[in-house]
Amino acid sequence: MSEGTKRPFSVREIREEFPALRQLIYNKNLIYFDNGATSQKPKIVLDAINMYYSKDNANIHRGVHFMSQKATTEYEASRITIQKYINAKKSEEIIFTKGTTDGINLVAYSFGELLSAGDEIIITAMEHHSNIVPWQMLCQRKGLKLRVVPINKKGELIMSEYDNMLNSKTKLVAVTHISNTLGTINPVKEMGAKAHAVGAKILVDGAQSIQHMSIDVKDMDCDFFVFSGHKVFGPTGIGVLYGKEAILDSMPPYQGGGDMISKVTFERTTYNELPFKFEAGTPHIAGGICLGKAFEFLSSLDMVAIQKYEKELAEYAQDMLDTFEGCRIIGEAKNKTSVVSFVMEGIHPFDIGTLLDKQGIAVRTGHHCTQPLMDFFGIPGTVRASFAFYNTREEVDKFIEAVEKSINMLK
Ligand code: ALA
Repeated sequence: MSEGTKRPFSVREIREEFPALRQLIYNKNLIYFDNGATSQKPKIVLDAINMYYSKDNANIHRGVHFMSQKATTEYEASRITIQKYINAKKSEEIIFTKGTTDGINLVAYSFGELLSAGDEIIITAMEHHSNIVPWQMLCQRKGLKLRVVPINKKGELIMSEYDNMLNSKTKLVAVTHISNTLGTINPVKEMGAKAHAVGAKILVDGAQSIQHMSIDVKDMDCDFFVFSGHKVFGPTGIGVLYGKEAILDSMPPYQGGGDMISKVTFERTTYNELPFKFEAGTPHIAGGICLGKAFEFLSSLDMVAIQKYEKELAEYAQDMLDTFEGCRIIGEAKNKTSVVSFVMEGIHPFDIGTLLDKQGIAVRTGHHCTQPLMDFFGIPGTVRASFAFYNTREEVDKFIEAVEKSINMLK
């Protein structure tokens, strides 16, 4: 975490900074419980988007003119803000991507080029499709073996199975830090140490963790950490791949084009250095700059207090839901946070979601891009309430009332 004074956590004050929360949906105060899908944006980010496009819009790394240089300086300053926030050693280790999916595909393609037939990749049974499919594609392309760490009925990884899977053929472990469907927090530091002991690397999917806890990639000792800007209070279409410098240096470029080159002739091209080697083409400049603003905002907050607050909020919601007859909580890990998924006997999740929407409550329903996980639990989908630090206990109370009303209508 970056140093600096943290303001005491006050949900009332924080809500003031998110204009989207002050709106009526179907004439009801919005209750936004779909933060796992995307988060709302604070004023500092909204103002920065407006400022960039109204005044500062210019291409970066290319122009001698004032506006281009200003945009370049701000874009690169944002990289440094993010580097400091996640405690990466160097800003060169921060690669801007389109989002988590893009970051994982970059690693699967580029790191994958260093692997050969017979090598093994380990993922887990609770991964999002974006941390399954790129590895399947790589395994097909290169003749690798994909292994999957199973989970127990509570939605926790069976660590003894993970231990048994690791061997000298293991080259990469790709694991979600927090499950988007279950809320399970995985022991990524321990998993990384075990992966390193057999000479493998670890990629941590931080799409659902960076907005809920402090992230220190040095302490975690992960080789790659990926996340999306839009889930961490920034814009869509921008994200970050953190990678250890030596590993990124050893990897070939992912895409070819402008900015990623050092010298081009028709015979041969040499590549730019990090991070530009992995950033072909004009990037999402406004996105990069405004993501930096989101991290400036986060840097002022006490993430330890926030993590505790969100955990209590999710536990409160889960305990209340559990009192309904026929309710099954999906994901009861001991170490979980910020997400409550549930199904109601005899009622389709979509129907509950639709009735909640009519009461001004936004949740996600369906398989949450984790179809293998749904198969494991033998269900078509869940209703998922996913929280952020701007949600309140009063909102949870209203949500519970609304769930009860919906069940009574659907029974
Ligand atoms: N991955 C996002 C979610 O869990 C979209 O909803």
